[in-house]
Amino acid sequence: MKSLVRQNDQLIVNKAQRKLHIITFGCQMNEYDSRRMAQILMGQYSLTPHVDEADLIIINTCSIREKAEHKLYSLLGRLRRLKATNPSLKIGVAGCVAQQLGNRLFSRAPYVDFVIGPQALYKIDGILGKLAHGEIRLCDIELSRRFQIPCIDAPLPKKGDVRAYVTIMQGCDNFCTYCIVPFVRGREISRPSEDILAEVESLARQGIRDVTLLGQNVNSYGKGLEGDVDFSGLLERIDSVFPDVRLRFTTSHPKDLSDRLIDCFGRLGSLCEHLHLPVQSGSDRILKRMNRRYTSQHYLEMVEKLRRTCPDITITTDLIVGFPGETDEDFEQTLALVKEAKFDQAFAFKYSPRPGTAAVKMKDQVDEKVKSQRLTRLLNFLNDIGLKQYKKFEGRTCQVLVESYSDSKLTARTRGNHVVNIEGPKDLVGRLINVYIERACHHSLIGRIVH
Ligand code: 5AD
Ligand code: SF4
Repeated sequence: MKSLVRQNDQLIVNKAQRKLHIITFGCQMNEYDSRRMAQILMGQYSLTPHVDEADLIIINTCSIREKAEHKLYSLLGRLRRLKATNPSLKIGVAGCVAQQLGNRLFSRAPYVDFVIGPQALYKIDGILGKLAHGEIRLCDIELSRRFQIPCIDAPLPKKGDVRAYVTIMQGCDNFCTYCIVPFVRGREISRPSEDILAEVESLARQGIRDVTLLGQNVNSYGKGLEGDVDFSGLLERIDSVFPDVRLRFTTSHPKDLSDRLIDCFGRLGSLCEHLHLPVQSGSDRILKRMNRRYTSQHYLEMVEKLRRTCPDITITTDLIVGFPGETDEDFEQTLALVKEAKFDQAFAFKYSPRPGTAAVKMKDQVDEKVKSQRLTRLLNFLNDIGLKQYKKFEGRTCQVLVESYSDSKLTARTRGNHVVNIEGPKDLVGRLINVYIERACHHSLIGRIVH
């Protein structure tokens, strides 16, 4: 999947003179982090969607796949020119690539003013203060053992938003052999449940009706939080306090998916029938080399249990093709697993060697051409299976939450996370309505309002 350069929308409108532009690459965690940075700076800056009128530009980077460094340097090269017209412009690099490069970034791009890792971005105002006092080229890539999101009273839904993310933990201890996350986001640290509840409360007060809890490995939430709840306990608490807010979470690791958590899908009224459960490969040999610590059989058993507990559950996944040592036969096993698991949707990626990880040193790297061929085959295969899953909704009536309006069209979402396009008036945004599903497309449904 391609990283997105998101021109951040106007999150906050205030009277501050100076303008901030944030460019966000990568995952939902980065989107959440960008919003937090904007929030911390809201008294000093107002957000602008126009990069050329900014006084501060922050690039929040992602290093999970692709040529992240190369992309960053070419973007910086373009931004550098803006300093000629606005000498007081400050440029900062945040996120995972910043964490990896640290001070080295300044030797290649000396015009960058600061570099901050994912855990340091909560100190952004202090860093800007030091720059204002004449310090230059500041770098903070400290990884802490304490949770780094201060409990701020007012998280940042965009005006009119009905969905929001809430980070519940940072980092990852799993060390899958292909993955850079444990190196750039540090060890797993859980956020106290009281802070999470306070944030959900504040979001609900501001009109948010659908909350996704975020973490690299949410199943191990609570480790290290003495006397606090575990992940199922957290879901139970949120469900009991906010029964009317749709609740979701991502991402789960199959090795830690407990029976108690599976039961939550049958028991908790607010927990939506959707689970993103990355399998990565259908070959046990490759799963072992990836250090995933489950087998394809174990994975399929969990899928079956989930469907027994919650027949309507949507199961989505991530897949990697061309991991070092993957043979044609291993790849066929991935196709077989996909067929058996009947995923509603899947994100498939070519294996991308990440510096410093164990897999990059494995000898039998797969040829780029073979990776591309396998990816194309897998994507075609997934499309067919996904469409079949979506077609099951044709002729059904579903309850959807209306998320947005544009050109007399509404975009809504089922509890199972299917996007439904409907014709209807703007005032339905934020409301739960019943729709009749007329037709299924590859990644969305077309519905009609049932009166
Ligand atoms: N190459 C390809 N895909 C990767 N992912 C993580 N690291 C890599 C990599 N080095 C994928 C995994 C993960 C998703 C977020 O990104 O499938 O679940
Ligand atoms: Fe990366 Fe594995 Fe951790 Fe997910 S569980 S963030 S793939 S190391």
